[in-house]
Amino acid sequence: MAPDGPFSVTPAGRVSPRRRGRSQMAVAVPERLVCRILVAVADDWGEDATRRAKADLISTSVPSAARVVDYLNGGQNNFEADRKAARTLAVSAPVTVAIAPAVRAFQQRVLRFLVTEAGIRQFLDIGAGLPLVGSTHEVTQSLVPECRITYVDNDPMVLSHARALMKSAPGGAVGYVDAEISETDAIVTGVRSILDFSQPVAVMLLFTLSYVQDAAEAAAVVSSLAAAVPSGSYFAIYHLASDLDVTMEEAARQWNKMMPTQAITLRSRAQVAALMAGLDPVPPGLAPINEWRPAPDDPRSDFSLPVHGMVARRP
Ligand SMILES: C[S@@+](CC[C@H](N)C(=O)[O-])C[C@H]1O[C@@H](n2cnc3c(N)ncnc32)[C@H](O)[C@@H]1O
Repeated sequence: MAPDGPFSVTPAGRVSPRRRGRSQMAVAVPERLVCRILVAVADDWGEDATRRAKADLISTSVPSAARVVDYLNGGQNNFEADRKAARTLAVSAPVTVAIAPAVRAFQQRVLRFLVTEAGIRQFLDIGAGLPLVGSTHEVTQSLVPECRITYVDNDPMVLSHARALMKSAPGGAVGYVDAEISETDAIVTGVRSILDFSQPVAVMLLFTLSYVQDAAEAAAVVSSLAAAVPSGSYFAIYHLASDLDVTMEEAARQWNKMMPTQAITLRSRAQVAALMAGLDPVPPGLAPINEWRPAPDDPRSDFSLPVHGMVARRP
C-alpha cells in the first residue's frame, strides 16, 4: 500500500506522495486562516511533470464538462465559457437546472447506502469532476474515516485540482488516477496501490458512461471493471436519459457542439439496463435518480428527472 493521504498515480503506476513539508507564513493571522493559506501553498507542482504537461492543455475559452458541472453546482472553478455553456444548456432544457442538485443528492444517498448498508470501504470514482462539497471522499469518510477512495478523470483542470483539494481523513486514503474511462486496464493497474482488490470495491460511474458512444464499448467498460473487482462489490451509475424528457435531445446536441471532445450519448432505460447486464440490481433497481430511495431533505421534483440511476451488486 502507498502512504495514506492525497497523492497522484499515473496509469504507469507511479505514485508521488504529497510533500509533507509546507511553506510557513511568518505573519500573525488567525489560526483558521493559516490553515487555509497552508492548504493553498502546499504543493509539489514543480515535482510533477505529468501535471505540468497536462496543465498546458487547459483552455479557459473552451468549456469543459467538469467546469460546467462545477458552475451548475455553485462551484468557483469555472470560467465565462463554462458559464455560457451552462446557460445554453439551461435554455435548451430547463430541467438541466434541476438535474444538478438532484445528482448531488442521489450521489449522497448512494454513498450512504454503500457505506452503512452494504459495508463498502473502498471506492473507485471514475469521472470524478472538480472537487465540490459532498464529494465521494467527504461523504464516505464522514461516515467511516478509514474509507479509501481513488478518483479517475482525464481533464487537465481536474488533475490540477485533485491533489490540492482531495484531502483524506486520518486513517483513510484519497488518490487520483489520470486516465480515460475506456482505459480500464490502466485504471485497474493505477488504483491497485490504493485499493485492495481482494476486498469489495464500489465502482462509481456517475455520468461517465454517457461519454462512451458505442454501446458495446460502454458495456465492456462495465464488464471489464466487474471482472477486476471481487464478488460483493457494487456498481453505482447514473446516465442521461433519452426517454424521459424530449428537451434533452436538444440539450445533448448543444453540449456536443460546445464540447465535441467530451461528446455525450443519451440512452433509454432499456439501453442503460443492458450496460449493467450480469449485475444484481439493488431495489428499486434502475430508476430516475430522484426516485431512487428519495430522502425527505432532497430537492423536490414533482416529475421523473431525465437521468437513469442504479446501484447493482456484483454477484
Ligand atoms: C459531468 S462531470 C460529472 C462529475 C461527477 N461524477 C458528478 O456526477 O457530479 C463528468 C466528468 O467526467 C470526466 N470525463 C469526461 N470524459 C472522460 C473520459 N473519457 N474519461 C475519463 N473521464 C472523463 C470529465 O472531465 C468530468 O470531470
